[in-house]
Amino acid sequence: MIIQPLIRNNICVNAHPTGCAVAIRRQIKAVQEWRAKQGTPKDAPHTALIIGCSSGYGLASRIVAAFGFGATTIGVSFEKEGSDSPTQISGTPGWYNNKAFDSEAKTAGLNSLTINGDAFSHATRKQVIEAAQKMGKKIDLVIYSIASAVRVDPDSGELYRSATKPIGEPFTGETIDCMTGKISTISAEPATAEEAANTVKVRGGEDWALWTRQLAAAGVLAEGVKTVAYSYIGPPLTHAIYREGTIGNAKKHLEMTATELNKELKANLNGEAYVSVNKAIVTRSSAIIPIIPLYLSVLFKVMKGQGTHESGLEQMERLFAERLYTGASVPIDENGLIRIDDLEMAPKVQNEVKKRMATITQENFAQIGDFKGYRHDFLATNGFDIEGVDYTADVESVERI
Ligand SMILES: NC(=O)c1ccc[n+]([C@@H]2O[C@H](COP(=O)([O-])OP(=O)(O)OC[C@H]3O[C@@H](n4cnc5c(N)ncnc54)[C@H](O)[C@@H]3O)[C@@H](O)[C@H]2O)c1
Repeated sequence: MIIQPLIRNNICVNAHPTGCAVAIRRQIKAVQEWRAKQGTPKDAPHTALIIGCSSGYGLASRIVAAFGFGATTIGVSFEKEGSDSPTQISGTPGWYNNKAFDSEAKTAGLNSLTINGDAFSHATRKQVIEAAQKMGKKIDLVIYSIASAVRVDPDSGELYRSATKPIGEPFTGETIDCMTGKISTISAEPATAEEAANTVKVRGGEDWALWTRQLAAAGVLAEGVKTVAYSYIGPPLTHAIYREGTIGNAKKHLEMTATELNKELKANLNGEAYVSVNKAIVTRSSAIIPIIPLYLSVLFKVMKGQGTHESGLEQMERLFAERLYTGASVPIDENGLIRIDDLEMAPKVQNEVKKRMATITQENFAQIGDFKGYRHDFLATNGFDIEGVDYTADVESVERI
């Protein structure tokens, strides 16, 4: 079977198994080389649980924890298995990423266990707890990197949907077609109170708190454990749809949860809980937010021009090496947040991005934005456009990689 990208409404709905595997191997190699130069810090984690391990920031965190620091990793994600049925095109990219990760970890002699299940359910938490007990391991790092549109409350069974909407007023902004670069204007109606509350339920800190408390109660967290969840703030031009919108509200809840969890962990396990504010990157969930693809294209061009551009993997290398595991206390800002979005938010970058965003047209977009880089990252998250992969070759089975 020949697999070509299938794009619907700026979402790539299929994945290339070989492309995903090659991309993972390349990222692992990059981290191994980085580690060879960097060495392993004394306080590096030994056993990391990554909730949302199969793509984006969670996957990057897992690769750094395992191949950068030699940690045993337990990964949780919710992915669709590849199948050779004629009606199913392929599994989700995360499915192939996990397969490739586990196979490479095995080759490198690293312990890894991947659980495919709903992170919001008590059953998955139980599975993780039992796995840690069986391994005889205490978890000293928990990364919470879930991005989901829906959540079933594990106690009531009720399903909640998140919405990426402004609050109070409609939002109109430009966006780009991920494949053609065509700029268009789209609008989003303001969220209802119910939509806003549901988004907090899905994307806020409630589930992270459940994880942390249940893991602690089961005795599988190590003394000095660190737990980190991820957030985004971004520049004012994205605030109406992001930071001051429904998702931003949920992120503020996540940030408040960090304060509570930090107190609890400190008291019980001499542990710590943080929210790390990361740079905007192209992941499966960020491509569908209005204005974000256009902003990212311009941001990439500016950061590449200034020599400060980072991939998600490079962000996570820096988070681990320069924030979490320095042998000293974790640096935080005045709001208690880890800032690894410092290079994105640097005035030199933001002033230039703002200037370009104000003058952008379809005609000058190719010069002032990095659409090529954006498009590559968009396709690469699904295993397409990966250098060295022959996309005209037959993929024998979408189940295997
Ligand atoms: N993408 C960005 O630009 C960016 C920037 C800063 C912060 N963040 C934050 O980083 C976190 C991860 O986002 P991402 O962009 O890497 O997302 P992503 O879509 O690449 O990854 C999301 C992960 O969550 C998992 N997941 C989703 N629902 C699940 C469920 N019910 N059970 C188990 N696993 C589930 C997926 O399997 C996947 O592993 C989010 O909190 C996001 O807000 C993202």
